[in-house]
Amino acid sequence: MQAPPPTQAAPPTPPSQQIQHSELLTLVAALTNSDQREQVLLELSKKREIFSDLAPVLWHSYGTISALLQEICCIYGSLSPPSLTAHASNRVCNALALLQCVASHPETRGLFLSAHIPLYLYPFLATNSKQRPFEYLRLTSLGVIGALVKHDDSDVINFLLQTEIIPLALRIMESGSELSKTVATFIVQKVVLDDLGLNYICATAERFYAVSTVLQHMVTSLIDQPSVRLLKHIVRCYLRLSDNLRAREALRQCLPEALRDETFQQALEGDQTVKKWLQSLLFNISQQGGGGAEGVQLH
Ligand code: TRP
Repeated sequence: MQAPPPTQAAPPTPPSQQIQHSELLTLVAALTNSDQREQVLLELSKKREIFSDLAPVLWHSYGTISALLQEICCIYGSLSPPSLTAHASNRVCNALALLQCVASHPETRGLFLSAHIPLYLYPFLATNSKQRPFEYLRLTSLGVIGALVKHDDSDVINFLLQTEIIPLALRIMESGSELSKTVATFIVQKVVLDDLGLNYICATAERFYAVSTVLQHMVTSLIDQPSVRLLKHIVRCYLRLSDNLRAREALRQCLPEALRDETFQQALEGDQTVKKWLQSLLFNISQQGGGGAEGVQLH
């Protein structure tokens, strides 16, 4: 019997996967070539679903991450005053899509975080131009942060809190497109679901009211244009805030009327989960605080 070649893990990799892997290595190597980079960014981001080991290969290959960071940094000059073209925005968004893979993959997420890579995206989140190239850039950057928080990793939450992601997310929730608002609210939801995150938000009245005021404004704007996916994250944020006794006390006063009456009944008809969250929220705030009664938690 023939021994497997030393570089292959047993069982042997099927030939089709070997071809795919060598294609991946060739493409990734081409990222360091500035003449080929734009084309390769597009191709890799299109094929990111099929290359299962794209993230570790990107991370561990020579010069790749610095090439992606270079793509990011070279458009900083177009952020203010706003002069980003659609072409430059698409190009950097392809680089961000690759970083999103690195942020999602369990083998590279911690490395991505310890290298503080999310900080490179904060200038994009801080833009406020309504032009499409900016909207797309913010949405794609939020997608990278969204991919990080998806996995309920408290190191991720800790990092995001220390680097003050909350005020950036709140600004987008206040003035972004519906899709950006949804991703930004999802990020805030994931932060408050973490114990450390909830304590952080509820540590001062200023923080709590900064968050609850933005949630309130979003609810008001949803009355005319309902979006169940956005409402879902808003309700989940409120429900989680109501787990904190001081926040629960404050919510008795500042929970929007539209969440207490029938305003969204029709919109939520098909969504049992949100309906239950809303019921639990209303139940929690009807409880007298200080008696040690913990809120009902639904998962
Ligand atoms: N340094 C600010 C603070 O700790 C950060 C901040 C601004 C903030 N707005 C916020 C934190 C809203 C939480 C919520 O307060």
